[in-house]
Amino acid sequence: MTTIAIQGIRGGCGATSVTASLSWSLANLGQSVLVIDFSPANLLRLYFDMPYSDKRGWIINNIQSDSHNGVINYSERLDYLPLGLLDEKMLSMRVSQLLSQMSERTSKYPQQLEGLFFEQYQWILIDASGLYSPLVKLAQSLADIHLCVLNPDVACDVLLQQQELPNNSYFLLNRFSPTSLIQQDINHIWQRKVTNLIPIVLHADEALPESFAAKKPVGLYQPESLIAQEFNTLAQWCASFEHQGTH
Ligand SMILES: Nc1ncnc2c1ncn2[C@@H]1O[C@H](COP(=O)(O)OP(=O)(O)OP(=O)(O)O)[C@@H](O)[C@H]1O
Ligand SMILES: [Mg+2]
Repeated sequence: MTTIAIQGIRGGCGATSVTASLSWSLANLGQSVLVIDFSPANLLRLYFDMPYSDKRGWIINNIQSDSHNGVINYSERLDYLPLGLLDEKMLSMRVSQLLSQMSERTSKYPQQLEGLFFEQYQWILIDASGLYSPLVKLAQSLADIHLCVLNPDVACDVLLQQQELPNNSYFLLNRFSPTSLIQQDINHIWQRKVTNLIPIVLHADEALPESFAAKKPVGLYQPESLIAQEFNTLAQWCASFEHQGTH
């Protein structure tokens, strides 16, 4: 089992979209996948058609009383677990409780989630979008691979140089528009300079926001789109990376 925590170097880079889309592509490759939302926005679930008004999630539920830890099945090999929808005050209270429970435990896993990490999933993908949240730190501590999503712009370039990132970080360029000269330049520089840059570029493609509007992973909504095919290539890269056991 390999755990990937997916985070943007800043907000809005596409971490949630990448988490949902990659999970679908990995499942389509025949891999069993669980996606867990660690982002306070709790938006990942909407890619899997969960009704907006359904507030369930692992930070709220006493999921030990649930038959399958609160996990929801989406397709043959793909399960998801929402964070839960809480107002800011309640959420920060729950997160504080979680952290204080964890400080008294020897396990690196939160009690609510521990069992899931020992199930038979081949992949656990964590949506760790949202900066400076203690949940992001927790997600990073659970991950074998930290996948950091970048957009080809100057802000991301600066942040890349000034932010402290985990040692197991890999970088993924998303939302590339090949006709933009500045993006071409940034892409050239990164291809030469960024260690652990994944050799796949995800292009800007309206199929992705459209799939979110349709509440489906893009590989299901528009399997022929460029971006859906790029996610399939990314899934193959992940599978071969895991096979090599290089993490
Ligand atoms: N390759 C792409 N092409 C077109 N639109 C994209 C692409 N990637 C992401 N987007 C759009 O960018 C917006 C932000 O994406 P997303 O919510 O996945 O980012 P995030 O990093 O999770 O943001 P946050 O930090 O707010 O959690 C969404 O509207 C999404 O559809
Ligand atoms: Mg997000």
